[in-house]
Amino acid sequence: MSNHDWHVSNSSTCQAVVQEETSESPVSPYRLYRFLTQLDDILLAHENDELRLAEIRPLVRSFLNESPWMMMQCPPPDPKRGWAVSKLYDDTDYPLTIQLVSWNPGMLSSIHNHGAWGLVAILDGQERNRFWQPQEAGEPMVQVQETILQPGELITFMPDAIHQVEALGDEPVLSFNLYGETDYQARFQYDAKTSEASSF
Ligand SMILES: [Fe+2]
Repeated sequence: MSNHDWHVSNSSTCQAVVQEETSESPVSPYRLYRFLTQLDDILLAHENDELRLAEIRPLVRSFLNESPWMMMQCPPPDPKRGWAVSKLYDDTDYPLTIQLVSWNPGMLSSIHNHGAWGLVAILDGQERNRFWQPQEAGEPMVQVQETILQPGELITFMPDAIHQVEALGDEPVLSFNLYGETDYQARFQYDAKTSEASSF
């Protein structure tokens, strides 16, 4: 089990994050409602997504450490589609979505951004993340970096970070996914050959 944290900027550069030592140990058991309340406090306290994510990362680590049940909640990939999503939390008009996602090895996503801050924690399996930058219209996208995430690793994204994910290995990739409010006008998928962006 690895425990690295990563952060991807709005220009799609990925950097390792030094985990802050926290003197406070979380209340145990650290239940979903407590996690949601603390998340709410962070979002109210900061407008800046970098600051939000810096505080959200250790919170998610505490929650995942205290919630081994989540692996059991993760739905197996649908045999036809090859993936499945279970919403752990999604309230109407509330800027947060928490999902458990599973997908089969070999599946590859489009090149996309999320138009929202995001956090993905790998619960099981291995996931390759490629990071891309668009070029002038008609020019191919440039892959600037890539990393392979292992179980226990966590990655955060700024809203304009552009990535592409691929499920590796022999077993489904299971992940915990947390997203802020999506700006659908700013969420795109990209053509690797032409850098053309289309609504996603
Ligand atoms: Fe994504």
